[in-house]
Amino acid sequence: MRPSPPSMFQPSSKKVLLSVLVGCFVIQSGLVYSDDTDIVLSADAVEGRKLFHEGSCQVCHQLWGQGGFLGPDLTNASSRVDETRLASLLTVGSGQMPAYAYADQEIQYIRSFLEEIDRPDVGRGQLRLGDPSTPVTPQAAFDAVVRASAPGDELEGFETFSSGICSACHFPFQSSTVGAPDLSTVTERLDVEDLIEVLKRGRPERGMPPPSPVLSDEQLDHLIKYLDWLYQNRSGLMAEWGDLQAGRSIDWRKLDWWEFR
Ligand code: HEC
Ligand code: HEC
Repeated sequence: MRPSPPSMFQPSSKKVLLSVLVGCFVIQSGLVYSDDTDIVLSADAVEGRKLFHEGSCQVCHQLWGQGGFLGPDLTNASSRVDETRLASLLTVGSGQMPAYAYADQEIQYIRSFLEEIDRPDVGRGQLRLGDPSTPVTPQAAFDAVVRASAPGDELEGFETFSSGICSACHFPFQSSTVGAPDLSTVTERLDVEDLIEVLKRGRPERGMPPPSPVLSDEQLDHLIKYLDWLYQNRSGLMAEWGDLQAGRSIDWRKLDWWEFR
């Protein structure tokens, strides 16, 4: 008898292939249906969001300005539309809004979804792209790199820096639109005395106000240690920062509009 040729379709390989496919499906479903950013929806609202996707509501309606323009933007609909009207819209429709004939429970889910997205602090048009735990913005990538490698005092300095009082104007490795320079080489330019002078008085005539609240001596010390550490480790940090962002730039033309949120 001739030995059967090796084939990827032997029963055991089939099993492997099948489990890989099932695994992919499970992961994909998880990604599609999980709410993967900081918008935490209740279980009801997640059901409502599913119905919203399945019903293609966004073909006619916008959320946070994204979607179709036949119907009104629904971002704040829950503040405008009372329960009775919503129930009527979602069952018998109105004008060009089709009759969906949803059951009470489904209407409740959609209501929860609309209620929970109706918040001023969401709706930044975030994109669902890749692994949500990986930082996307240059600032977030930089934060992650520094937090992973800065020693104690330097990290303290960074926390002060990134609490917003400095990072609002100074960006990582580039000067910002308000003219605040990249500070990763500042300890090469300024000695400790000059630095303390800037950090106490700012340079109000050139766009840097005196830091407020006033920095304590300890905060000053930590900030300066941080800036020096940044300078000493500049190239390594820059490389890691670049790696984190690699492949994460957005090709807008390749995105379907329903990937906006
Ligand atoms: C074919 C287009 C279309 C689709 C699809 C559609 N709608 Fe509408 N919707 C409209 C129009 C047009 C109106 C305005 C109706 C009116 O005022 O008489 C409307 C009104 C609404 C309103 C009231 C908004 C307000 O501010 O008064 C809500 C809420 C709503 N739709 C929810 C949904 C949901 C949820 C879905 C998906 C399950 C959906 N719509 C699908 C066209 C659509
Ligand atoms: C409102 C925006 C703004 C904020 C907030 C701000 N800066 Fe500045 N900073 C600037 C600008 C603009 C300059 C450039 C001034 C100039 O041209 O001399 C500057 C300059 C500096 C310099 C001198 C750089 C150099 O090369 O001479 C240092 C150091 C500095 N900032 C550190 C900080 C730190 C630390 C914080 C937080 C405590 C901070 N800045 C907060 C805008 C800001």
